[in-house]
Amino acid sequence: MSFPEDFVWGAAAAAYQIEGAAREDGRGPCVWDRLCRRDGAIWGGHTGDVACDHYHRYREDVELMRWIGLKAYRLSISWPRVLPDGAGAVNPMGVDFYDRLVDELLAAGVTPYVTLFHWDFPLALYERGGWLNRESAEWFAEYAKVVADRLSDRVGHWLTLNEPQVFVSLGHFEGVHAPGDKLTMKQALQVGHHALLGHGKAVQAVRAAARGPCQIGFAPVAVVKTPATDTREDIEAARRSMFAANDETLFNNSWWMDPPLWGRYPEDGLAVYGSSAPQVRDGDMEAICQPLDFFGVNVYSGQTVRAGTDGPETVPLEVGGRMTAMRWAVAPQVLRWGPTFLHERYHLPIHITENGMSNVDWVSLDGRVHDPQRIDFLWRYLLELGKAIGSGVDVRGYFHWSILDNFEWAEGYRERFGLIYVDYPTQRRIPKDSAAWYREVIASNGRTLFDPGACGTPGSGQTTGRESESA
Ligand code: FCB
Repeated sequence: MSFPEDFVWGAAAAAYQIEGAAREDGRGPCVWDRLCRRDGAIWGGHTGDVACDHYHRYREDVELMRWIGLKAYRLSISWPRVLPDGAGAVNPMGVDFYDRLVDELLAAGVTPYVTLFHWDFPLALYERGGWLNRESAEWFAEYAKVVADRLSDRVGHWLTLNEPQVFVSLGHFEGVHAPGDKLTMKQALQVGHHALLGHGKAVQAVRAAARGPCQIGFAPVAVVKTPATDTREDIEAARRSMFAANDETLFNNSWWMDPPLWGRYPEDGLAVYGSSAPQVRDGDMEAICQPLDFFGVNVYSGQTVRAGTDGPETVPLEVGGRMTAMRWAVAPQVLRWGPTFLHERYHLPIHITENGMSNVDWVSLDGRVHDPQRIDFLWRYLLELGKAIGSGVDVRGYFHWSILDNFEWAEGYRERFGLIYVDYPTQRRIPKDSAAWYREVIASNGRTLFDPGACGTPGSGQTTGRESESA
């Protein structure tokens, strides 16, 4: 078993989580700036004001990406940095930043994958109704055009929305993410409909503006169901369960994936949401359903399912089973079955646009950051991804979340997801053991996963040679 020769080994981050410089060079406020000021909204009262100061330290960060050997880096653009009011006047200093960042990445041999919306919605447009206002779809498309006009001569890979399920549900229904609203289910589904419409219009805008070859996808999170055994019955139960939209939560796959790919909401979702279903105008579904070049998907955890007498049954978590620091179950098979089921259903090449774990990392007395759990996690997950590829699933890339420790939304800086440790008071970067390990995986195009000796012994005592830099 081997990874395809041109496999895209990458890592990801998002603007609000790493950039900082929240009030510099003309950036407008976003809904996260506002939520971070609400008492009790964010763990420790943290904010993204400074974050990893990537806005000023991007050169050093790209140099670290080069050292790891990343083939690609998934970044997101801050909408209000480019358009401080969300629409209208462009902020030249904001666009310049992404210009420089893209140039720096290309010079380092790292291909940029650009996400247009990773949750930092412009506050000015929120005050005009946000995603609940149908015009939001047009605002988003205009913004997409501005970005594509400026970057598409060098950027060929685009993602529209990051995890619509999460910003609609946690941000607009449960109110724990920005903008912090607790709308009704009907309103939340309308927010989702406008965001999907924005996705479709942004795809059209990027294609129309593109000055070079372009590939476009989106990045929903997959709620993955894995079969308890490899029997045909359990596999079928997992597949059915993975694409069911039959409970009243917003966390499912098909409600968010079928419209962009198939041009319709799933029947079971329409039935379960009933009178809360969104208002859909003539032509909306056609606008949402634009041809896509790849299927980006964020995959973290999942549930095990088996065939029961009355349909699919969820298998309870093993007592004392593996968990990340954030208490997400470690479920490596999601990287086998997630892409397998998605590829079967939607027939697009797959990119894993996020996968990773929060770990309890700190700087040891030897000055290094040892994160054996992350190495083990990554190893187990990538082996399962290899199984999907081995069985013929067209997986083209893998982006580890995240390149750096960063602002983990409502959890603030408590959770560390990075391959690179960030000491926030000094902004010093320290590549963790996992970064050195991933470097060998990349250098061997995945061979060290199957033959640990191929490049030394992963995870045991390598030095990166960079620990003392970047103080
Ligand atoms: C995903 C988000 C990403 C990060 C990871 C841990 O839901 O897209 O920004 O927070 O989870």
